[in-house]
Amino acid sequence: MNALSLIAQNAGFLPTRGSIMIDFVAAAMFGIILVLAVSIYLVRYRRMYQVHKWIQIITGVVLLVAVTAFEVDVRFFTDWEALAQPSSFSSGTVHGLLYFHLLFAIPTPLLWIYVIWHGITKFPNPAQPSPYSQTHIFWARLAAIGMLLTAITGWVFYYAAFVA
Ligand code: HEM
Repeated sequence: MNALSLIAQNAGFLPTRGSIMIDFVAAAMFGIILVLAVSIYLVRYRRMYQVHKWIQIITGVVLLVAVTAFEVDVRFFTDWEALAQPSSFSSGTVHGLLYFHLLFAIPTPLLWIYVIWHGITKFPNPAQPSPYSQTHIFWARLAAIGMLLTAITGWVFYYAAFVA
């Protein structure tokens, strides 16, 4: 990797070594977590079932598109290991943090697809409480916690690889 291509790759918008897609996903996770918190507040305390349903479907689709773009970027275009090279953490630590992040980042989207699909097919339309509620609440809470842990472990990895 020569210096010029390292600079070209390093064109993220945060003052770090992240590429534009890596910066975008790291920043977008703030938005996703915020919107998720609002969506759960609205369904739990305001009984806005239909609004909750559409917020979850839209954020689910946005996440799917963003994660696909991110995967294509990191697998084919951006050599993230070169960008992480100057980190003050060892390569072993950075890779360990990545694997810890993947522990949450891989199952969580699968859980989201499951929760959204069953939500659409098993709740009445328009959405409202039903005998399916208890099952949804169990898996949906797990899906929400999984997303929060994906974001937190992702930021920790981002810090170690591209900031420190
Ligand atoms: C990954 C996507 C989703 C997540 C993370 C999620 C999260 C949640 C959570 C945490 C609750 C329980 C709030 C509480 O503690 O009382 C809830 C309730 C509910 N959700 Fe979702 N949800 C998702 C998708 C959907 C979809 C697609 C529908 C479509 C119909 C839906 C319909 C409902 C309804 C009707 C309730 C109220 C259940 C009741 O209180 O009886 N959710 N959701």
